[in-house]
Amino acid sequence: MFIKFAGTGSYLPPKVVDNFEISRMVDTSDEWIQTRTGVVTRHIAEKDTVASMAAKAGRIALEDAGMRPEEIDMVIVSTVSAEQVLPCVACEVQKELGLVNASALDINSACSGFITGYQMVAGQMKAGMIKNALLIGSESLSNGVDWSDRSTCILFGDGAGAAVLRMECPPEELEVTCIMHADGSKGHHLTCSVGHGKHKVPFDEYYRMNGREIFKFAVKKVPEVIGEVLEKQGVSVEEIDYFVLHQANKRIIEGIARRLGQTEEKFPMNVMRNGNISSACIPMLLDEMSREGKIKPREKLVLAGFGAGLTWGGFYTEW
Ligand code: UT7
Repeated sequence: MFIKFAGTGSYLPPKVVDNFEISRMVDTSDEWIQTRTGVVTRHIAEKDTVASMAAKAGRIALEDAGMRPEEIDMVIVSTVSAEQVLPCVACEVQKELGLVNASALDINSACSGFITGYQMVAGQMKAGMIKNALLIGSESLSNGVDWSDRSTCILFGDGAGAAVLRMECPPEELEVTCIMHADGSKGHHLTCSVGHGKHKVPFDEYYRMNGREIFKFAVKKVPEVIGEVLEKQGVSVEEIDYFVLHQANKRIIEGIARRLGQTEEKFPMNVMRNGNISSACIPMLLDEMSREGKIKPREKLVLAGFGAGLTWGGFYTEW
């Protein structure tokens, strides 16, 4: 039996910024952004913080699961854009939602964060240490965007997605097929520093990205790891109903679909409306699909993420 996605939730801050507004800030156009990335609009947090968005998405996921706050054993928040280092965002969520029995921690494996979080939750469940977890991706990437850099400011957005994960069988019967990878030697392709520390040379508080390198890496490595996941699970690529991927760029997702030899209908997208929201993308898309009734019980899914670190990975599940 697989870990049950008992409930999902998401939150988008109300302010919407379209490509025309971006093209008044930097030398770009709606046509270029749409053709090269698929992005049409993104949401930008004004009053919201990473913690407030995480709590809002988490509350909706709990309600969707029909669970009480005290039933959650662990809350993990994946983020690279929190306004503060301490206390961690997960503790803010724990306080806000009254998760009185939950341990709490933040993780950072960038846009792979939801997959990493799932792997951590799955490990704890397999070890018999927890039964119910709240896993959240929350990002306010606009905090670290350089609005004069046209190679990055066009891409990113803000928001949060959450899932309540529940173990509904004895730990030894739990099926987990999740594979994560990292290559720190390519870490310089996507960077951002924080404002303290003695050895932060050169310091740059903004996201700096070698877009072409990340693009090539994603189109090569994501199909590879999906192949590893499928082989380990003993399922063919044709049997998969949906590939729920990190929403970095429409062309990346189309490239991955081509490499896997699958039709684009199997690759749902919301990057057009939301832009790239790092670790929030995957749970937000899952939430959207679930609420629209797009995913049916027992359908086969592969979820996969990739991003800074560099990190990438995926897992198989049945809905
Ligand atoms: O979440 C995980 C991390 N991030 C990603 O996955 C992002 C991956 N990369 C990408 O999505 C794409 O590489 C970008 C969207 C960032 C860039 O698209 P690209 O097709 O790779 O463009 P490029 O960097 O190869 O640049 C092509 C041209 C360049 O001009 P020249 O040198 O050919 O004259 C750029 O200066 O496009 C120019 N350019 C732009 N033009 C208009 C770059 N950004 C813009 C822009 N508007 N916003």
